[in-house]
Amino acid sequence: MTRPLPIAASLVLAALSFAAFAQTEAGTETAPPPATSEPAPAPATAPPAAPTGSAERGKQLAFTCQGCHGVTGYKNAYPNFHVPRIGGQSATYLANALTEYQKGARKHPTMQAQAMSFSEQDIADIAAYLSELKP
Ligand code: HEC
Repeated sequence: MTRPLPIAASLVLAALSFAAFAQTEAGTETAPPPATSEPAPAPATAPPAAPTGSAERGKQLAFTCQGCHGVTGYKNAYPNFHVPRIGGQSATYLANALTEYQKGARKHPTMQAQAMSFSEQDIADIAAYLSELKP
C-alpha cells in the first residue's frame, strides 16, 4: 500500500497550489481601486500642446524678416553676408530655431532680438507661413 499515498499527496499539493493560484488571482482582482478623491492632473501642469500655426497671421509677423532673409522664397538677400534661407523649411525646424534663439540656446544677437518679441503662438504662425513658401 505505497501507491495511494503519493497520489493523495500530489492531489493535495495540486489542490493547494491551485488554491494559492486562485488567491493571487483574486488578490489582483480585489486590489483597492485608485482613490477617486485624487484630483485629476491640473491642465496647467500638463505639457502645453504645441500651438497650431496660422500661416495667414504668420505672413504679417514675418514681414520684418524680409529685410535680411530676402523676399522671393526668403533666400539670402545679401550675397556677402550669411543669412540662411528660411522659406520652405519644415515648420518644426523653423519653430525650433526661433525658440532656441528666444531662449538663448542658440546665440545670434540679431535673431535673438527678433525671437524675443514673439509668443509661442507667433512662432508657430511664422513657422507655418514660412514652411509654405516655395524655396
Ligand atoms: C537683421 C537681419 C535679420 C532679420 C531682420 C531676421 N533675421 Fe533671421 N537670421 C539672420 C541671420 C544673420 C541668421 C543666421 C544666424 C546664425 O548664424 O545663427 C538668421 C537665422 C535665422 C533662422 C535660422 C535658420 C537656420 O537654418 O539656421 C531662422 C529660422 C530665422 N532667422 C528666422 C527669422 C524670422 C522668422 C525673422 C522675422 C521675424 C528673421 N529671421 C529676421 C538675420 C536676420
